[in-house]
Amino acid sequence: MEKTDHHLLVGHGATRFARLMGHPDHDPRTPERVTVWNQLKQELRCGKTGPDFRFWKRISKWQKAYGLFDTVGACAIDSRGRFAVATSTGGIWMKLPGRVGDSPIPGAGTCANRYGAISMTGHGEGVMRLCLGRHAVDLMKRLPCQAALDATAKYALKHGVECGIIGVDAKGRLGGAHSAKWMQLGMAAGR
Ligand code: GLY
Repeated sequence: MEKTDHHLLVGHGATRFARLMGHPDHDPRTPERVTVWNQLKQELRCGKTGPDFRFWKRISKWQKAYGLFDTVGACAIDSRGRFAVATSTGGIWMKLPGRVGDSPIPGAGTCANRYGAISMTGHGEGVMRLCLGRHAVDLMKRLPCQAALDATAKYALKHGVECGIIGVDAKGRLGGAHSAKWMQLGMAAGR
């Protein structure tokens, strides 16, 4: 954001740039993740899952079993009305190498415009297909934050996309909506 005018770097180029900026090598795999990954590969080999790379229901089962819900989002507005938003995710299990989900895509999992800012997650392909982030902040032009997020979650479900979304509008009103059973939310105000 500060060193180049690029909006999105991925793959080899992103790694090279990170090294250039002084970020060391890091292996994000945890023992829990490796356990689930091996189980899924085993199921795939036994033909239990079949050649279907969506795996959404099975993934949910594993995520419930291991509590591996992993997307973290943050939205903020400052006293001058400027927005900031960030989303971090571990992605979805068993996707092809090179797959990019919704989190880093402006207008999908992460979005801000003059009306508001949102961070969201869910089935990334669905969130991208519906441009849900842009949908939510555009709704804030005429709706308070919470109403805009409720409407976005409803719109997503109507199109078969499960999601969770947090946001803030230009008046500093905060909100959160989701179609999952639960989602952890935190809010803070400060000077
Ligand atoms: N929402 C996370 C992903 O699809 O990668």
